[in-house]
Formats: sequence, structure tokens, C-alpha cells
Amino acid sequence: MDKKVRYGIIGIGKMGHTHAVKLLKGLDKNGTLTAVCDIDPARIMWAKERLPGVKIFEDYKELLACAEVDAAVVATPHYLHPGIAKKALCAGKHVLIEKPAGVYTKAVRELNEVAAAHPEQIFGIMYNQRTNPLYRQAKEWIDGGALGEIKRINWIITNWYRPQAYYDQGGWRGTWEGEGGGVLINQCPHQIDLFQWLGGMPTTVRGYAKTAVKRNISVENDVTFYTEYANGASGVFVTSTHDFPGTNRLEISGDGGRIVIEQNLLSEKLTFNKLKIFESEFNKDNKKFMPLISQRKIRLRSTMLQNAVRLGIVGQHMNIFRNFSRAVLFGEPLIAPGADGIRGLTLSNAVHLSSWLGEAVTLPLDEELYIEELNKRVEEERNSSLDKK
Ligand SMILES: NC(=O)c1ccc[n+]([C@@H]2O[C@H](COP(=O)([O-])OP(=O)(O)OC[C@H]3O[C@@H](n4cnc5c(N)ncnc54)[C@H](O)[C@@H]3O)[C@@H](O)[C@H]2O)c1
Repeated sequence: MDKKVRYGIIGIGKMGHTHAVKLLKGLDKNGTLTAVCDIDPARIMWAKERLPGVKIFEDYKELLACAEVDAAVVATPHYLHPGIAKKALCAGKHVLIEKPAGVYTKAVRELNEVAAAHPEQIFGIMYNQRTNPLYRQAKEWIDGGALGEIKRINWIITNWYRPQAYYDQGGWRGTWEGEGGGVLINQCPHQIDLFQWLGGMPTTVRGYAKTAVKRNISVENDVTFYTEYANGASGVFVTSTHDFPGTNRLEISGDGGRIVIEQNLLSEKLTFNKLKIFESEFNKDNKKFMPLISQRKIRLRSTMLQNAVRLGIVGQHMNIFRNFSRAVLFGEPLIAPGADGIRGLTLSNAVHLSSWLGEAVTLPLDEELYIEELNKRVEEERNSSLDKK
């Protein structure tokens, strides 16, 4: 079949331009780039020079009206994702949105409703870390019952190092008004999605989101949150953008053992200490006071080079594009359905809200209260920048 999905990318900044270049290079054999859009004249100039044969728009509504676009990719700043995605779906396009799905769940819930009303159109989200083979293996074991009932999920993910220069590049970054948050909404949506993809959604969240730690910003960049689940399990998640070197260690304990996934710059490894008998079964008959339960260690390891080869050099983002194109053309199930975006966002909104209120938050989230509290931070930020002028 020589039909390809014709992509139009809205927002060709750092992420969108990378997607554009890769598509133009033909790294997705079932996809091609036909159009881009940006409101920044410098990005338009770049597109004119670097994207031969691609239609260039300065208004995304024109891109959405273009008959040569089958699928819109939304790679603008966060607040704009749900609104543009809704318009794209209503214009008859398939939609792939960048993470996060939005800044607050109310807008994303409305987007999901529009997507549900257009079931014939594919709606995906760029949760590219879901394509990592180690997380996929863990998911397979959890869903298949090998880990048993989950007791605990802990993630320390403090290797999102961002110096002051990163925040000083200006624009929408590091602000409530431009970005809607800090590490929870920008760097960590990947891991927060995986936290719920692997561990499920909690019932209660207690968050501590510290703002402006060692950085001149108004949003959070140092966060710890605690989660409780309907089955009595619990979780802890720690992240920051100012630790160096940082840590990336995920640990999930279940009735059937413990899975640990650790990553550093050059390699990553998964270890599954798989109990030969589930702890709950062992405990029924055991008479010893401090016994050991027999276990088998399953180890998977890969270097970044092996990963690059396994992923086809082009990396995780292109894996999502390839899957999305096959979903459009051949009905392949999506690795990251767009409707899933609300789950991680609910979690991160709950962490913010809990931290702001100084108390635990139960789900479902109070969406209106979240918006009200967020708007207070936007207002304070505006007032403090007026004070500085
Ligand atoms: N999946 C990932 O690994 C990953 C990595 C980095 C960024 N992102 C996400 O990609 C998105 C963009 O991030 P970025 O780093 O590229 O930001 P960026 O600021 O470099 O790019 C955003 C672009 O959107 C353009 N834009 C703004 N409003 C627009 C509008 N109304 N119509 C068209 N274009 C508009 C801006 O001019 C800019 O060029 C964010 O949601 C971010 O979280 C994802």
C-alpha cells in the first residue's frame, strides 16, 4: 500500500521542528509531512528554508482547512493543546497531541468528549516513553499477573536537570501563566503517566510541590507526592529539576516479587525478583519468624546504543508516529491513546491542589477548585512581575 498519513504540525518550536525534520526524512514509512504552522516569524523563516515542498501556515485554522492534511500534530505550549485538538477533530483530522494533554483536566475532559464523538478519527498522545521496552515488559508482567497484586510503587526521578539558563530562555517556560506549572506539567508527565499506566490510578494524593528551589522561577521544581490505592497499596514519587547528578529508579513491589527499573545516562536495567510462590500463599503455611522466600532473578539490560538500534535509531517519538500511522491506515491499537492523557494530568493536578491546600486530595478531582487555585497563582505572578517593573 503506498498511501501515507499526511501530517500537519502545529507549532514547530523545539519539539515540533524535530518531528517535522524526521517525518521529512522519511523515518516513518507510513507517514509524510505536508504542512506546518507557527505564529513566530522566525520559525516560519526556518520552515521556508528547511522544509521544501511543505505548505506553511501562520494560522492553525488554515492548516486544519487544508485538504492535504490527514492528521494534525499539536506541539504548541500546553494551554493551547485541548482547544486546538478539539478544533482539529471537528475539522475531520486525526490528532496527535504533545504531552501534557492540557494544563487542567476540565479542558482535557471536554477534549476527550469531542474525541469520543468522532470515533472514526484516531486520537493519540506523545507519551513516547511508553515505547521503552523495559516499561513495556513491566506492563506485560503486571497485566499478566506475574507480579501479583501491587503493594507499593516508588519512583525517584530527579534527573530532569534544568539550569537557570533553561528557564531564562523566556517565553512560556517556568510560569503559571505560560506553562501552567513546572516539573509536574513539563518534564514529568512521561513518568507520571507511566506511574499510573503501571500502578493504576490512586484514590488519594498528598503532594508537596516546592516552588523556585535554587531557581528564579515562579513554578514548582521540587516535588514529593504520596498516593494511596483502593486495594491498600501506596506510592511515593519524587522529582526535581535541580539535582545533579539525578536518579531515575522505579520500584514496584507486588505479591509476586519486585520489579526495579533504573536508568542512567548510558544504560538502563530492569530486575525482576520473581518469587517462586506468592508472598500471600507462602505466609499461610510458613512457621519461621524471619524466613526467605525462594526467588528467581530476571535481568534485562540495555545500553543507550543498543536501545537506539532496537528502536531503529530514530527513537521513541518516531515509534509513536509509526504506531499512530499504522493505527490510521491499518487499525493497529494505539500505544498511547489520547484519552489516556487525562489520567496523568489528573494526578499532577491533584498533587498541585493538595500542595496548595495543605491537605490530601481524594479523586475524582474537584476540577473547578483546581482552576480557581491555579488562577490565583497566575494572578500573583502577574502582580509580582508588575511590581518588578
Ligand atoms: N514528548 C516529548 O518528549 C517532548 C519534549 C519536549 C517538548 N514537548 C512538548 O512539546 C510542546 C512544545 O514544546 P517546545 O519545547 O517545542 O516549545 P517551543 O516554545 O520551542 O515551541 C512551541 C512552538 O509553538 C508555537 N506556537 C505558539 N502558539 C501557537 C499557535 N497558536 N499556533 C501555532 N504555533 C504556535 C511557538 O511559536 C513555538 O514555535 C510542549 O507541549 C512540550 O511539553 C514534548
